[in-house]
Amino acid sequence: MTTKTILMAAFGAALLCAAAAPASARPARPWTNASLSPDARADLVEKRMTQDEKFTLLHGYFAMPFFSKDGSLPKGALGSAGFVPGIPRLGIPALQESDASLGVANPMNVRKGDSATALPSGLALAATFDPGLAYDGGAMIGQEAWRKGLNVLLAGGGNLARDPRNGRNFEYLGEDPLLAGTLDGESIRGIQDQHVVSTMKHFVLNDQETNRHWANGVIDPAALRESDLLAFEIANDRGHPGSVMCSYNLINGHYACANKFTLDTVLKGDWGYPGWVMSDWGAVHSANDALEGLDQESGQEIDKQIFFDKPLRALVKDGTVPQARIDNMVHRILRSMFAVGLFDHPPVQTPVDYKADAEVAQSVAEHGIVLLKNADNALPLAAGAKHVAVIGGHADAGVLSGGGSAQVIPHAPRGMYPTVAVGGEGMMGPFSSMTFDPSSPLQAMRGLDKDAEFRFDTGRYVAAAVKLAKASDVAIVFATQWEMEGSDLPDLSLPGNQDALIEAVAAANPHTIVVLETGNPVLMPWLDKVQAVVEAWYPGQSGGEAIANVLYGKVNPSGHLPITFPKSIDQNPRPDMPGIDLKPGQVFDVHYTEGAKVGYRWFADQKLTPLFPFGFGLSYASFSFSNLTVEGGQTLTVSFDVTNTGSVAGEAVPQVYLTSQAGKPLERLIGFERVSLEPGQSQHVSVSADPRLIANFDTTAKGWRVDAGEYGVAVSRSANDPVLTGSAALTGEMVQP
Ligand code: BGC
Repeated sequence: MTTKTILMAAFGAALLCAAAAPASARPARPWTNASLSPDARADLVEKRMTQDEKFTLLHGYFAMPFFSKDGSLPKGALGSAGFVPGIPRLGIPALQESDASLGVANPMNVRKGDSATALPSGLALAATFDPGLAYDGGAMIGQEAWRKGLNVLLAGGGNLARDPRNGRNFEYLGEDPLLAGTLDGESIRGIQDQHVVSTMKHFVLNDQETNRHWANGVIDPAALRESDLLAFEIANDRGHPGSVMCSYNLINGHYACANKFTLDTVLKGDWGYPGWVMSDWGAVHSANDALEGLDQESGQEIDKQIFFDKPLRALVKDGTVPQARIDNMVHRILRSMFAVGLFDHPPVQTPVDYKADAEVAQSVAEHGIVLLKNADNALPLAAGAKHVAVIGGHADAGVLSGGGSAQVIPHAPRGMYPTVAVGGEGMMGPFSSMTFDPSSPLQAMRGLDKDAEFRFDTGRYVAAAVKLAKASDVAIVFATQWEMEGSDLPDLSLPGNQDALIEAVAAANPHTIVVLETGNPVLMPWLDKVQAVVEAWYPGQSGGEAIANVLYGKVNPSGHLPITFPKSIDQNPRPDMPGIDLKPGQVFDVHYTEGAKVGYRWFADQKLTPLFPFGFGLSYASFSFSNLTVEGGQTLTVSFDVTNTGSVAGEAVPQVYLTSQAGKPLERLIGFERVSLEPGQSQHVSVSADPRLIANFDTTAKGWRVDAGEYGVAVSRSANDPVLTGSAALTGEMVQP
C-alpha cells in the first residue's frame, strides 16, 4: 500500500465511524450549524449556559489600563473602549468593542502604535448625500476593525443636529431624518458586512453635550417619532444594527437607558428590534434598568457600581426581575453575534491596506466638500496664479479632526501628525488637543501646480499674513473650528483671531478664498469681502488632497449642506444653551418646542432666512431641472429630468421637498438623488416618498397617519431654492410602524 492509499483508507474508516456514531457523540456545539437561524442558534447556546456565564455577558469592562491597580488591561482585552469576556467552554467569543464614529479609535494609544484610516467627519459624509459612500466608509472601518481583532464597533451615530453648537455634530449626519437615517443605516450595513457588529447611537435625543448626563429632553411624543426617532427608525430598517447604544440624557423624565417608552415600546416593540441595547459608558443608574429595556451595562467601572452583576442577581433572586428577562437579554446579545457572523467569521489580525483605505476617505471628502460662494468664477484656480499665499489653519501640516471618543490616531506613513494642545481645567483638560490628519493642503496644491510659487504664513500675526497676501496673486486662508465630545461651542464664531485675519487678508488681496475646516456651521462676517468660500469640514485622512483637487478643479465640488448655517444663533429655537450655568448633577429641562421642525423645517416655519440653507452647494457646472410629474395615490412619486447645462462634467444633488401636507404648509425632505452628468447630458430621476415622511404620527392610533388631500412638492437646489413645483392628491391611510 502506498502512503496515499493508507491515508485514504484511514479517512474512509473515520467517515464510517462518524456515520455510525451514537447520538451522545454528536457535535457538542449544535449552534455551530450556520444553516440554523440566529435565534435558533442563540437559544441552543443559552440553554447550556450557567447563571454565572449568562451574567458574564451582561456587563462589560472599560478596557483601559487605568482601572486596575497594576495598570493592566482586563484579561483577554486588546485595549479599547469596551470588553466583554468570552466563554471558552461554549466557544462564545469575547466582545472587543472599539469606538469608530469616523475610523477605528485607539484611545490614548492603548494599543501601542496602532493607527487607523481617519474618515472625514459625519457632516462631510452627510454632505455627500450619497448612501453608497456611507456604505463604503462603513465597510472600510469594519474591515480595518476586523483585521485589528475587534468585533464590535461603537459607530452609527445618528443624532439630529438640533443645535449648531453641539460639540458632537461632527460625528453625526446633520439635521434631517431621511438623510441622517439613510446614511447611518448604510454605514452600519457596511460595517456589519465585514462580520463586525455596529451599534446605532446615541438612542435617543442626546442632542446637546452641555451637562449631557442631566439634560432632560422634553418633547411631544409624536414630534419625537417624526424626528430623532424617525432617523433611527430608517437607519434600523436599512442597517439592522446588532446593538443599539442608549444615551446619557433623559427623555421626558426618564433616563435614556431606563426609558421603557423608547427602548421597550418603540425600539423593541413597534420596530421589532431583535438585537441588544448596550448602555453608553457611565449611563446606567440602577439594576432595575434591566426592566426598562437595557440589556447590557458598558464601561462598568464608571458607573456608581456594577449594577448588572450582584445587584441584578439580587433582583432576580427576590423575584423583581424574572429569570426570563435575563435569558432574553442574553439571547439578544448572542442572537446579534450569530446574525453578524462573530462566531462563524471571527476577526483575524492581518495587515491593513492603508493606501486603498485612504482612497475611500478621499472620495468621501471630495464628494462632501461644499462650495458656498464662487464670485467671478474665482475657482477653480487658474494656472495663471503664479504667486499663491496660503495662510493659517496649519495647512502646511495637515487637516483638522474632531476630539473625544471619535478621535482616530491617523495612519501616518512617516509617523508624523501634528497635535496642538488646547488644555483647560477639569478631567478632560489634559486630553484636549487638536489632532491634524497628516494630509497637507499646501503640499497637495504644490503637487498640482508645479509652476506656481506657494508661500505659507501661519496666520498668527495678521500683519505678516497681510504682507504676504499683498505680494500674491491669490490668497487662500484656511480657517478652523475645533470641537470635542463632552462640551458644546459657546457660539458660532471662528475662534481666535481668524475672522479678523480673513477681513484683513481680504482687504489686502481682492482674490481671497476661504477654506473652512469646521465641525459645525460658522458665522461669516467677512462673506461679502471674499471671492470664494469652500466648506471642507474635517476632511479626514486625505483631506489635503481632496481640498487641493477641488480648488484646482480636478474634482468638481458636489457637496450640499446637511445642516443649516444660521445668520446668528438668535435664529435657533434655543439661543441660550440650556443648562450651561448649572453644576453637574442637577437635572434640567431642555424644551424641544420646535418638535419635529428641526433645522430647515424650523427656518421655514418661522420664515427665517439663514446664511446658507440646508441642501445648498455650488458646482463648477450648472444644472437645470425639467419635466416634473407628481403622482399621488398611496404615496407621492416625483419624477423629473436633470441636465448638465455647464461646460464641465459634474454631479448634481436634486432634492425633493414636501411643501404642503393635506393643504397645510410645511417643509420636509422626502427624497434626493446624486446624479453624475457630462456637459449636455440629462438623466431622468424618480423618487417615491417613504410614507412616514409625508405622514404625521398618531399617538392614539399608534401609527403613521396620512390624511387624504392635496400634497405639494418641490424639486429644489436647496431647502430655499425650489425649481419645479407641483402637487398630487393622496387617498389617506394608516401605516403601522
Ligand atoms: C460616548 C460614546 C462612546 C463611549 C465609549 C461615551 O462617552 O458617548 O459615544 O462610544 O464613550 O468610548
